[in-house]
This record gives sequence, structure tokens and C-alpha cells, in this order.
Amino acid sequence: MRLDKFLADTTDLTRSLATKAVKSGRVLVNGSKPKSASAKVSDSDEVTLDGEVLTLLSGFRYFVMNKPVGYVCTHRDSTHPLVFDLLDGVVNRMDLHTVGRLDMDTTGLLLITDDGQWSHHLTSPRHHQPKIYRVWLAEPLREDAEAKLEKGIVLEDDPEPTKPAQLERISDREVLLTIHEGRYHQVKRMFAALGNLVEKLHREQMGNMTLPADLKEGEYRPLTEDEVQLMLQ
Ligand code: URA
Repeated sequence: MRLDKFLADTTDLTRSLATKAVKSGRVLVNGSKPKSASAKVSDSDEVTLDGEVLTLLSGFRYFVMNKPVGYVCTHRDSTHPLVFDLLDGVVNRMDLHTVGRLDMDTTGLLLITDDGQWSHHLTSPRHHQPKIYRVWLAEPLREDAEAKLEKGIVLEDDPEPTKPAQLERISDREVLLTIHEGRYHQVKRMFAALGNLVEKLHREQMGNMTLPADLKEGEYRPLTEDEVQLMLQ
């Protein structure tokens, strides 16, 4: 974001007073005087005003988790551990929700937040956020699978065909599937409709966010401000 907006969001300065503060040398970005108040800063930059480090505080919390097998994406389950149990040190976990759900036996990218508007944007069918799953199948995939998935298939108990989905074959029993909607057990039901069975399912990507390579199963980290914004583009 622009430096003058950053200053207006993190201090009691208006944007024009922020511009004056920059001009008078009171503001440093990573220890240097910025060229102007319209310079761009990201959350990896250290911005100081009169020597004091400024932090952008959003009222909302955003996390990315590498969900392990065996955990459920709900607050109400007395028999299974909850993904929220993995958020060590995070307070008020009851206020958080997952952005969409992964089945108990699915692993991978899971977003967790208390910002309902943000998660609505990401899950709303209007925004068509693609989701990429790595799928391990019980049977070799038939040759006509790509064409059928691209055309849309009818799932059991649902007359509306699925939206076009894209398939990349890694081997005859391992594929990457991109879907643009989020129906109940969608990936498993799509492969069931193709006469196959999903043995293992892992989400690698959602919209602009790829599962961070350094997040081990069960680990999570807060999203950066840039990542939160990137998801909305
Ligand atoms: N589709 C499924 O079938 N399960 C998941 O967990 C996610 C997508």
C-alpha cells in the first residue's frame, strides 16, 4: 500500500499530515528516508515515525494451516479433534471459522479467519476461486476423464452438472484437479461419478494462495497483509 495510507492507518495523522511528516524527514522506511509519501510499502518493510516502529493492526485474524488427517473443520464435534485445537497460543478460537471445509481425511491448505466478509468472498460461487487438489485414486484413470470433467458431470443426488474442471495427470493413479466451486465432498463424488475412488486427497491451492512449502502437516502461520489482499484479487 502507499506510504501515506499506511501512516494514516497506523497513526492519528491524516494523509496530508502524513505527507508533511514524510517531507520533514520524520518517517523512515527500513532506516532510509523515502522519496515521497506515495512510495509503496509492504508488510515486510519497517516503517518508523519519530523513531517509533508502526504496525498495521487489522481487527481480523487470518491463518493458513496445513491440515492433517483426523481433524474436523467445525467447532461442534465431541469425538474428533478440531482444526482449531491446533492453533496453539491463539486466543478466542471460538470466533474463528474455516474458509470452506476439508473432510476429516483430507490434508492440505486450509484458511482460517474471523472475517466473515473475506471468507464469503473466497467461497462465493460468483468469484469462481479455483481450488487445486492432488488426488490419489484406487484405479487407473480412464482416458475420457479430462473430456468429461471439462464438460461437467452429474453427481449423485444433484441434477446440476459440475462446472468445467481441469485435470493434469501425474501418473495413471495420481492427478491434479482444479475445480471452481465447493460442493459437499465434491472431489470424491466427481471421481465416484467417473467410476473411481479417491484414496487420498490433498489441497494444494486456493485462489492465489498456494500451500506454503515450509508448513508441515498440523502447522499454521498468520497470513501476511499482502496475502490477505492477494486472495481478494
Ligand atoms: N472434496 C472432497 O471430496 N473432500 C474435501 O475435503 C474437499 C473437496
